[in-house]
Amino acid sequence: MINRRIKDILHSGEAEEKLTACGWVRTKRELKGFAFIEVNDGSSLAGLQVVLDENTLDYEAVLKKLNTGASVEVTGVLVPSQGKGQRIELKAQTIKVYGEADPETYPLQKKRHSFEFLRTIGHLRNRTNSLGAVLRVRNACATAIHQFFQEREFLWVHTPIITASDCEGAGELFNVTNLDLKNVPLTDKKEVDYSKDFFAKPTYLTVSGQLEAEVMAMSFSNVYTFGPTFRAENSNTSRHLAEFWMVEPEMAFCDLNGDMDLAEEFLKYIFQYVLKHCSEDMEFFNLRIDKTVLETANNIIDNKFERVTYTEAIKLLEKAKVKFEYPVSWGLDLQSEHERYLCEKLFKKPTIVTDYPTEIKAFYMRLNDDEKTVAAMDILAPKIGEIIGGSQREERLDVLERRVKAQGLEPEDLWWYMDLRRYGTVPHAGFGLGFERLVQFMTGMTNIRDVIPFPRTPQSAEF
Ligand code: 4AD
Ligand code: MG
Repeated sequence: MINRRIKDILHSGEAEEKLTACGWVRTKRELKGFAFIEVNDGSSLAGLQVVLDENTLDYEAVLKKLNTGASVEVTGVLVPSQGKGQRIELKAQTIKVYGEADPETYPLQKKRHSFEFLRTIGHLRNRTNSLGAVLRVRNACATAIHQFFQEREFLWVHTPIITASDCEGAGELFNVTNLDLKNVPLTDKKEVDYSKDFFAKPTYLTVSGQLEAEVMAMSFSNVYTFGPTFRAENSNTSRHLAEFWMVEPEMAFCDLNGDMDLAEEFLKYIFQYVLKHCSEDMEFFNLRIDKTVLETANNIIDNKFERVTYTEAIKLLEKAKVKFEYPVSWGLDLQSEHERYLCEKLFKKPTIVTDYPTEIKAFYMRLNDDEKTVAAMDILAPKIGEIIGGSQREERLDVLERRVKAQGLEPEDLWWYMDLRRYGTVPHAGFGLGFERLVQFMTGMTNIRDVIPFPRTPQSAEF
């Protein structure tokens, strides 16, 4: 049995059409001799207004069961609506109540609930307007991402979740070995007997699919990954998750400029797609969550992103008439307050910062001719900070070996990565987009825990 989705009924339903609609009751309004209920099936922000009266089978008995949260199947005839804000409504002939919801205990009542409260009922919060809108926009972002890369003939490659390498070298790895190795840092692994372990070596949940994406790009030229990544960073902020999704394109025969151009075109494409396909939800965010959501989206689509080098950015920050909490000086990483100053206060649009100091970036980034900086780029978004991190990769074997050793790693452990430079090496580049940060940026939602259905953060993993 497949019934018409409510979104479809609201858009293309015609008066006098007989049909069946299913969903959950959002509200009930009783008047003399008749009643209205709003039924929502998650397909759109707006629900379907259903009218019941004495002509509805078992009117009195059914009405008693129709509390907020009850699940129903309504069969009836569409009629033009007298009410404001809707074209049509469904005059119910029969209503089947699949499951009632006791108003004494059902936690979602007709009022605004705080996002903190909604997080405590993660299994039900998707029935609210805001979470519904977020998750439809999240779905549209994912569709736009695949469409963007598929139109450009990038191959979608599936990289492993369990890996033996630490791509970012930041030591934020979740252990998946059978031994209790919680306290054994990666560099001490020779001290430990791994022979009894499942994989006979230390393994972790991946922090990034990049190294494996590079493997694939060295055969297929243009590829992308889109999957879950994990970071055991103990940061309880509104922009960090322990499990988040990342999109990572990797292009052979591409330099940093090509990488930045693709990233900019990519973000513009996703915003355009979402504005077109989720206009109702985007207007909801603009009205209820953040009044700048639509303006920001149009700003992204219409304007060229700012591009500055890290060295220029440091000079601008040093000149800024703002008291920062963290120090600014060449060689130190940019903190979120610095990133936000650049893109929100100074340039007022997404800003790409390039050529960071070698010491603060990962081993795989290509060393610039000055030997002090690497061909890295971060895209900073207003209100979010870093949304994309990418670079041109080091394709020269000797330089890469030096960089790997300088970061305390063993080139032999990355022998396959080195082989890519040994056999048919090419200039190549890529980036990683934090998918939840994109959804936050798109919707104006302030906490990253509210843009993923099942958030994983320190001390918290419900379900
Ligand atoms: O800057 P990051 O660490 O870059 C990489 O992992 C590269 N290997 C990507 C590449 O070049 N293929 O992470 C990329 C993005 C960040 O810009 C940020 O948007 C997001 O991933 N991110 C997080 N999102 C949510 N929670 C966290 N804990 C995140 N850490 C990074
Ligand atoms: Mg980064």
